[in-house]
Amino acid sequence: MGIEVLFFSCFWRANQRAPLDGGREKTNYLRAAMVQVLVPGPLWVLWLVRAALATVYFQEEFLDGESWRNRWIPSTNDSNFGHFRLSSGKFYGDIQKDKGLQTTENAKFYAISSRFKPFSNKGKTLVIQYTVKHEQKMDCGGGYIKIFPSDLDQKNLNGKSQYYIMFGPDICGFDIKKVHVILFYKDQYHSNKKPIRCKVDGFTHLYTLTLRPDLTYEVKIDTDIIESGNIEEDWNLRLRKLEKSAMKMPKNWEKSQNDKLSDVPSQDWDKHFLDASANKPSDWNSELDGEWQPSVIQQTKYKHGLKSQNMDNSDYKDVWLHQKIESSGYLQDFELSEYENIGVIGLELWQVRSGTIFDNFLITDDENYAAEFGLKTWGRTKGPEKEMDMIQAKEEIKKAREEEEQLLRESIKEKHFQTQHVKDEL
Ligand SMILES: *[C@@H]1O[C@H](CO)[C@@H](O)[C@H](O)[C@H]1NC(C)=O
Repeated sequence: MGIEVLFFSCFWRANQRAPLDGGREKTNYLRAAMVQVLVPGPLWVLWLVRAALATVYFQEEFLDGESWRNRWIPSTNDSNFGHFRLSSGKFYGDIQKDKGLQTTENAKFYAISSRFKPFSNKGKTLVIQYTVKHEQKMDCGGGYIKIFPSDLDQKNLNGKSQYYIMFGPDICGFDIKKVHVILFYKDQYHSNKKPIRCKVDGFTHLYTLTLRPDLTYEVKIDTDIIESGNIEEDWNLRLRKLEKSAMKMPKNWEKSQNDKLSDVPSQDWDKHFLDASANKPSDWNSELDGEWQPSVIQQTKYKHGLKSQNMDNSDYKDVWLHQKIESSGYLQDFELSEYENIGVIGLELWQVRSGTIFDNFLITDDENYAAEFGLKTWGRTKGPEKEMDMIQAKEEIKKAREEEEQLLRESIKEKHFQTQHVKDEL
């Protein structure tokens, strides 16, 4: 591959990205192109070719000083919201690259967001990635991000603002140390049913959520796959789809069966009952998870609708009917994780002890690009960050020991002085 081609792919890439954050990224890519020319190598070529194929909807590394304030809008919905500042924290791998949005005030709600060109993830992979560092040793607070529709009123962002996706760690006391993946679907929030444990130490961690158009998903922490599978199953959304094609039995169902069933040709029906013995889980949060519904029990199949059925439904809270579709049996609803007009990314959370740093935000359709970006950012600074923390810890121990020795010396001096004093008096 010749130099011209490399330049071409860099320019192309820069132009692709231009609407996002303008000239800054363009110059970065030009710089990358220069480096590329100086240091040719097959890996670089691979990266450039791959990057050229990716669509990057949003990327934010906070590399341009205070200019982030032009891109991130703090909400003024509550004058008591906490403030963010740009900081790389007490220890870091690179003082510039590790700068991110840091919460600065204890026991506050925070709400800030940034806008990008709206897009739909229909039929496409969606990767959401960022880094978060709880260097204050988080006791209780959110470390997650939210993805909003483009019609969000950013200045009014608050806990009730409707979002599409919520993703990331949440820590509170001993009980809650989890990674949320909440999806908005059919006017309700649905949280992941398989618990995913988050990192609780004070270092920067990379969180990646991938939603694929075939309804598979993946949650990665620090590039390791922590959870993966099928969205319908792991969000318990399979049954909700039955409800979609179900007819709810009216209250006066005696009458209705006579009316309706004459219209219905001879067909197989499956009856579904909501499980009355099911109880709402103790950790169910209606605000986050939506209204709780008991699961559906399927009764044996029978012919000709309800007519033959002598039903004792005293055991059931509610009755649903579902018309069985003979050949397909079950229809996949690919809209489970499809969103139109994705347009805003935001931090809307509560923290008891502040100090969390959010950085390296990325929204793309390309898993490989996300992986490379993760390695180029978090991958490069995580090692030096740990080293700096270790050096600081050693220094603290040394300082504590010196202070102890100083106190000891002083007390010996004191004793000596006192003995002298006593001798003198004698
Ligand atoms: C904050 O948002 C809520 C809900 O959208 C709204 O009712 C309220 O008026 C807003 N408050 C301010 C000060 O804008």
